[in-house]
Amino acid sequence: MSIAHGIRTLGVLGGGQMGTGIALVSALHAKVPVLLHDRSKEQVVKGLLLVDKLLAKDVGKGRLTELEAKEARARISVVDSMEGLRDVDMVVEAVSESLVLKRQIFTTFSQILRPDAILASNTSSISITKIAAAVVPAGESAAGEVGKKAASRVVGLHFFNPVPVMKLVELIPAIQTSDDTLNRAHAFASACGKEVTTSKDVPGFVANALLMPYINEAITWLERGVATRDDIDKTMKLGMAHPMGPLQLADFIGLDTCLAIQQTLYEGTSDSKYRPSVLLERMVDAGWLGKKNGKGFYEY
Ligand code: CAA
Repeated sequence: MSIAHGIRTLGVLGGGQMGTGIALVSALHAKVPVLLHDRSKEQVVKGLLLVDKLLAKDVGKGRLTELEAKEARARISVVDSMEGLRDVDMVVEAVSESLVLKRQIFTTFSQILRPDAILASNTSSISITKIAAAVVPAGESAAGEVGKKAASRVVGLHFFNPVPVMKLVELIPAIQTSDDTLNRAHAFASACGKEVTTSKDVPGFVANALLMPYINEAITWLERGVATRDDIDKTMKLGMAHPMGPLQLADFIGLDTCLAIQQTLYEGTSDSKYRPSVLLERMVDAGWLGKKNGKGFYEY
């Protein structure tokens, strides 16, 4: 156990690409036992297959021994219910971008988990302060000692996709977050092998407040016929040495996720530069969500 973060067991809620990636780097680099829960068993099975594939690849490339891979995999267990996360020292929530859903989940966390457990959200843009307000026990004032203490253990811990590859974690304190929570979450992200930057709790934090207008502008230009899909992506990929062009990146992130983040940015700032493009809205209306379901700006 690392003294700095004091996390002996981690819980991860959400078995999608982010949740399984977080489970993997925690088991592999921070070397903590991870309990993973998703209400969809199918989703968890799919996520764990990817974990197995990535570990096998690292063994094949000589980055890990068979034993190290086996030990890392053995640290990840699946639990069938949220109650199964009861005894963890920290939980990271990685479900879809909905404030209503996240508030429900954090209220449940506060009822199930130990009062000293850190409650982290991997949200890409939703206010951590709003999420933290959901853990104040019923009947207590948010401004009273009990309410302030409950909310002080909530923090934003924003990983990037693909989690095993991207080197960054954004750390976002809510205005209620205690220094102890912040320091331990920072130490845990470092133990996962990540560099950490800190952002205030503003819509989109640093990363998505900068990235999403760029992606949205690219979609608007496609809509207006300024250039073709391939030329927009090629321009940014080759001209700026980005690993992916903005339209391919939007597909990679998920068009529903991009739209949800843009809506949060727009609603949170009323700034027209964050207004989602009509084409993005229509593609999500059509159920074209990008790489995850086979159709976005590209076919997969
Ligand atoms: N999970 C884990 N590892 C993956 C992966 C995945 N889904 N996809 C690719 N990789 C790994 C590969 O296994 C490979 O690893 P090795 O070097 O060990 O072999 C490595 O990434 C490179 O993969 P490829 O050679 O297959 O492909 P590539 O060179 O085209 O790289 C990429 C793929 C890493 C995804 C690269 O295109 C890239 O960096 N794209 C940009 C990703 C990005 O910007 N992510 C941030 C999105 S924003 C976000 O996440 C925040 C948010 O809130 C929305």
